[in-house]
Amino acid sequence: MSLFGFPQPKQWKGKDLPRVLSRLFDVKDGHTLAVAKSHGAYSTISKVLFDRAPFQIINEVMDSGLRGRGGAGFPTGMKWSFVPRGGQKPVYLVINADEGEPGTFKDRMCLMRDPHLLIEGMICTGYALGVRTAYIFVRGEMLPQIQALNHAIKEAYDAGLLGENIAGSRYSLDIYVHRGAGAYICGEETGLINALEGYKGQPRLKPPFPAISGAFAAPTVVNNVETIMAVPWILTHGAKAYRQWGTDKSPGSKLFSISGDIAKPGVYEVPLAMPYMEFFELCGGLTGELLGCIPGGSSAPVLTAEETKKTTMDYESLAAAKSMLGSGAITPFNTTRDPVLILQSIARFYAHESCGQCTPCREGTGYVDRVIDSLVDGHGRDGDAEFIKSLADQYEPMTTICAFGPGAAWPVQSFVTKFKSHFDAYIAKNPKHADKRDLVTVRPGAFW
Ligand SMILES: Cc1cc2nc3c(=O)[nH]c(=O)nc-3n(C[C@H](O)[C@H](O)[C@H](O)COP(=O)(O)O)c2cc1C
Repeated sequence: MSLFGFPQPKQWKGKDLPRVLSRLFDVKDGHTLAVAKSHGAYSTISKVLFDRAPFQIINEVMDSGLRGRGGAGFPTGMKWSFVPRGGQKPVYLVINADEGEPGTFKDRMCLMRDPHLLIEGMICTGYALGVRTAYIFVRGEMLPQIQALNHAIKEAYDAGLLGENIAGSRYSLDIYVHRGAGAYICGEETGLINALEGYKGQPRLKPPFPAISGAFAAPTVVNNVETIMAVPWILTHGAKAYRQWGTDKSPGSKLFSISGDIAKPGVYEVPLAMPYMEFFELCGGLTGELLGCIPGGSSAPVLTAEETKKTTMDYESLAAAKSMLGSGAITPFNTTRDPVLILQSIARFYAHESCGQCTPCREGTGYVDRVIDSLVDGHGRDGDAEFIKSLADQYEPMTTICAFGPGAAWPVQSFVTKFKSHFDAYIAKNPKHADKRDLVTVRPGAFW
């Protein structure tokens, strides 16, 4: 059952759809230990904790080609291999369940429907990396998810699946749930680590990368919820089986959260590299005529209808289309929508969420937001589209500590370029459009 109550199809075009991550999504009470166990939960840990060496697990995950599902798509096994072994400091595992990107709602679904799969993945990962203490950093507002997690963790402790000597093995792991205070920037891994330590949720300069010096100045692996939930399946079925789906560089399956002008919005698990248009069909079809699509969360550069029709849902295809798969949040919009208003809403979000540390991001996102507002309010001036883009161009090329700046700039640059006629139409409506821009018509900074 998707978050919106639409059941996921079991098959597509005569083939079974993958159920690596969403096996229990449609199962009644699948979040409880009893039901999860009756469907095979925790069967991987006996194979892993007793029969395999940590390096074998890292190698298997590396061979599977699994890539991080938090947005950047970094190869998971490679990230794990950077962690120094046998040092004096503890190694921490931190699960990123902040999920603040507009349009993204897959991780919260995982936490509600199958928290035991995440715990099982954390045990396997923790064993591979020599972790004794792990954290799950959850967005503070996600109260039902936090309750579901706490309940599942308690069940796992009571059943001897967490704590000292898990399932009678020599491996011990403690898991703590940490509630974030609800800022998008706390999803950025170093901002998250700062918040976890009790500081302001503001990113840190890299290097050092968290794998070398992260939480409490110790080696730390930060992984997304979905990434870690794929690990038990890979260790049970093998890297080769995982590669039956997707492409060489984007293997496996992925959860996509789809909303917007689509008949059946929700979370669906499908093989990577499915064409967008086919995916829309699987989700009950588009409502109306496609005008464009945000293919991977609000940071991803928007695609026109023509581009969407040529693109498949994988890292390479989206890179070729100069966009990105990101968190896998897909938002198609039809010809009744106004791209200027869509960008206005996105720009408002980034201006509000900029943490304020870096001048180009803090000032630039606010400036863009105010100029778009002024244009929508009927004060557009000739050259505004170019002006807005030139502002975004200044915080796009990593002139900032973290990738928030580029992520805030990409939608601005792409919307203004690909839907320029819509911006020009607003400008033409202003009888004074040829006047020089008077900064008084730009609403004063709301956030700073
Ligand atoms: C502004 C910003 C917000 C982010 N938000 C999230 C998030 O909510 N969840 C997430 O898993 N990754 C998020 N990321 C990516 C993380 O920094 C990090 O790459 C990820 O958690 C690593 O896990 P993965 O390798 O499993 O994808 C964000 C990055 C940026 C720049």
